[in-house]
Amino acid sequence: MSGNPSDVRQAVLARLRFEQALGLECLRPRALAPAPAPAAETPQPEEAATRRDPAAGPRGEPPATADLKPGDKAARWKDLEARALACTQCPLHQGRQHVVFGEGNREAKLVFVGEGPGADEDATGRPFVGRAGQLLDKIIGAMGLAREEVYICNVLKCRPPGNRTPNPQEVAACSPYLEEQLELLAPKAIVALGSPAARTLLRTSEGITRLRGRWMLYKGVRVMPTYHPAFVLRQYTKEVRKAVWDDMQLVVKHLAEA
Ligand code: URA
Repeated sequence: MSGNPSDVRQAVLARLRFEQALGLECLRPRALAPAPAPAAETPQPEEAATRRDPAAGPRGEPPATADLKPGDKAARWKDLEARALACTQCPLHQGRQHVVFGEGNREAKLVFVGEGPGADEDATGRPFVGRAGQLLDKIIGAMGLAREEVYICNVLKCRPPGNRTPNPQEVAACSPYLEEQLELLAPKAIVALGSPAARTLLRTSEGITRLRGRWMLYKGVRVMPTYHPAFVLRQYTKEVRKAVWDDMQLVVKHLAEA
């Protein structure tokens, strides 16, 4: 940021808007326009349709992929989603209500990757729709984006019992779906929300506190690790909110660069 008073004012207002979006009530300067309303959370028609009709075989087996042309992205997405929805690769499929494949703009420049579905996501089949999801929507809004503009998914597509941390076998079984999603999306940046997402993408055992705030690379794509919104809700301190704000500012800046 320059020392120009107008830039400083814009930066301060943006930070206050972020704080406001995250629920801080005590700061309401007159110049602070209402934060943009979070966008509606209606799934895309194509996603809703494939969720109801997973195109799996009669015994739930994945459909054949051999005939798919690499350039036919729509067919590859359909095939990938159908395979994920029919997946029985790890024991988590036994307790699931829904596979939470992911949703959003398949041409997105920015992808958010979380850990795995919670109870609300398992019940609806949609990622980040519970309390953590509402906070994520606010973070996305404070970045000047709408939920529909980005793509949101998780490392695990099925809910671990009691929302426990994914185990290595589950991550190994499920992460190929994430890898295919990211290959098809080819975004400009990925935000890894929390340790499991950052560790899976970056193949490290470091914790999120050490990883966050620095650009890393996943197959040539920039990854910004940051705190998971559920952690922000649990640890609702100025330091944690500022850390997420700083990390998201780096992402906004990178997206704005040509
Ligand atoms: N937490 C996650 O990591 N993902 C979700 O979809 C919801 C909560």
